[in-house]
Amino acid sequence: MQDALLRLQQEADTDLAAISNADQLESFRVKYFGRKGPFTQLMRQLGAAPKEDRPKLGKMANELKLALQGRFDEKKVDLVGSLAAAGPQLDLSLPGRQVPQGKLHPVTQIMEEICAIFEGLGFSVAEGPDIETDFYNFEALNIPAHHPARDMHDTFYVDDSTLLRTHTSPMQARVMETAEPPLKVIAPGKVYRCDSDITHTPMFHQVEGFLVDKNVSFADLKGVLRVFIAKMFDESTAIRFRPSYFPFTEPSAEVDIACVMCGGKGCRVCKKTGWLEILGAGMIDPEVFKKVNYDPEVYSGFAFGLGVERIAMLKYGINDIRLYYENDLRFLRQF
Ligand code: PHE
Repeated sequence: MQDALLRLQQEADTDLAAISNADQLESFRVKYFGRKGPFTQLMRQLGAAPKEDRPKLGKMANELKLALQGRFDEKKVDLVGSLAAAGPQLDLSLPGRQVPQGKLHPVTQIMEEICAIFEGLGFSVAEGPDIETDFYNFEALNIPAHHPARDMHDTFYVDDSTLLRTHTSPMQARVMETAEPPLKVIAPGKVYRCDSDITHTPMFHQVEGFLVDKNVSFADLKGVLRVFIAKMFDESTAIRFRPSYFPFTEPSAEVDIACVMCGGKGCRVCKKTGWLEILGAGMIDPEVFKKVNYDPEVYSGFAFGLGVERIAMLKYGINDIRLYYENDLRFLRQF
């Protein structure tokens, strides 16, 4: 019986070494550890052995079985590991998983479109700080302390002389202070006003534009804006200049386009007027030139400031400005 046990061990080891897949692993288990396996049979034969040999033989058979079980378990772990490392079973007919694609925010897209149009007309781009001094935001633009025009701005103050810029117009003074005419500049960026409803957010974007040279007239302003609106909206979009007031331009105008919803017939969006305001503009006031040491007798220029969200709303037919800033992907994915 001792011989039989030794032979069994050799045979089992050879079989174990040959295992290379899960099926073979299972057949091995059934063959050696099953109810009809060699160990069960050996145990039955134990009764036929001499009485004094039985404990020794029984112990031997048990140890052999346990050791084999241990080697079998190791083999199993190895095999499962190498099968997993080889990767899962692939179904090449499954459709691929879509990687979600990010895009530029609609306001950024419109901003870039606006800048590209003016760059095409020869304007260069200047950027300035969001946290601005009272001087550039107001004083340099002919809005002294206590000027009633300050009321229009709902300013966020940082301290007595520092604020979040309420418009991009301070860039007029910043650029003119450091450069000589002729100048053709746009200044895109964020601006801030303490105001919030369906057409106002506390932060929004403007693009400022200004041109300074000799003999610049209101006709030049009109020509540039005409081209811009034709490119931004439609060649046939009607425009009108409406007299207005800004302390830093004289004369000043607000520019309207024919309502993009009703084409000028009058609807809810244009409040039955047929017109939509899209920007403020005018001829740069001589007082602004004096502040930056330009001679108003020699130079003239125009400036305009347009609201980017406003233009994006009109272009895309959006009626609530706050949608831009709620980060709802169902909204953002449409652009
Ligand atoms: N800065 C003005 C505003 O925010 C717009 C403007 C810019 C008007 C330039 C005239 C010239 O309302």
